[in-house]
Amino acid sequence: MFDIESLHSDFPILEQSMHGRRLVYLDNAATTQKPMPVLLASRHYYEAINSNIHRGTHRLARAATEAFENARQTIASHLHASSSDEVIFTSGTTAGINLVANVLTLSGRIGRGDEVLVSALEHHSNIVPWQMLCQRTGATLKVIPCHDDGTLDQAAFRETLAGGRVKILALMWISNAFGTVNPVIEMTRAAKHAGALVLIDAAQSIAHLPANVQELGADFLAFSGHKIYAPTGIGALWGRAALLNELPPWQGGGEMIKEVTFEHTTYNELPFKYEAGTPNIEGAICLAAAFDYINGIGIDTIHRHEAELILSAADALSDIPGIRFYGPVGRSGSLSFNVEGLHHYDLGTLMDQMGVAVRTGHHCCQPLMARFGITGTVRASFALYNTEADVESLAETTQKAVSMLR
Ligand code: ALA
Repeated sequence: MFDIESLHSDFPILEQSMHGRRLVYLDNAATTQKPMPVLLASRHYYEAINSNIHRGTHRLARAATEAFENARQTIASHLHASSSDEVIFTSGTTAGINLVANVLTLSGRIGRGDEVLVSALEHHSNIVPWQMLCQRTGATLKVIPCHDDGTLDQAAFRETLAGGRVKILALMWISNAFGTVNPVIEMTRAAKHAGALVLIDAAQSIAHLPANVQELGADFLAFSGHKIYAPTGIGALWGRAALLNELPPWQGGGEMIKEVTFEHTTYNELPFKYEAGTPNIEGAICLAAAFDYINGIGIDTIHRHEAELILSAADALSDIPGIRFYGPVGRSGSLSFNVEGLHHYDLGTLMDQMGVAVRTGHHCCQPLMARFGITGTVRASFALYNTEADVESLAETTQKAVSMLR
């Protein structure tokens, strides 16, 4: 096991205290805190090499371009991409999914009679872009239902695929709301076998599980930097080069072109074809610093540590009368619960006043909440810097909040 105290000290924000308790930050599924190497990468970028990229010939422009392209390479290596050309920098998961949905709309590959398949667990950002695609193309949105334990109904999934109309499966790897880990490799294989494209929303898995796109077998994978200890406003979309080459561009502007006249424009090669405008250069460099940081610890080590904390948290909370957990045992990242007769918002507010940060509400998954007949949950979500002491604080403050509200 790694030295948790020393890792903790890499995150200056965690030194804050409230009511005599060191901040217990359990809202990592919403966003993670940033370690010193990421903060220093940001500072170094602005202090030493800030410049626009791919344009200037001067020293700073060359240094910034090199750092940006090295960052792309770091991300490509982490994902086991065939080439760094397959890594498109975006502002985050939402932008990546919207990019794919928009280019598919423009491509003419999806039309009336076709189906787009999502799951009952999805975040709004993996529902709404597909609804928009369906409105524009005449395709139909289909949903894989989930069981009461928060796992997907695999039989219903296979049945929908067997209909032969699914053009794309858009599936989250780990549920942000319930922590369910979907069997993405098996589901991708089945969808590909049925002739569908597959997009994996890796927003919640990227910080907890290895992301090997060769093993995964999907066509696209999108994630956000801020869920993996990097800043907000940066993320990446990985896509198969052959497919991205074939698909049309989406946003037009600088960098995505080869030659422009008023009559005609030719487009740039990958990855620049999908990177119109000045990108988030500092963000990309910080994202690479974050990948270096987690790979220095080891993603499997991080996963084991967090899995133990989640099991221990479920155990510590299980004595509370009327508690209900959502999602199956074997969750990753998040532990969601409600206490009978109490509102998640009241619980979360009282816990915050005792120094424990959790998220309450629908977690941008209103259809999932409707499926379970609830308006939201209390969600504790974990990161590499959380400790058993955090779990004890979670249990203690939940118990106190429950007794205050009852
Ligand atoms: N998707 C993020 C969450 O689950 C914001 O909190």
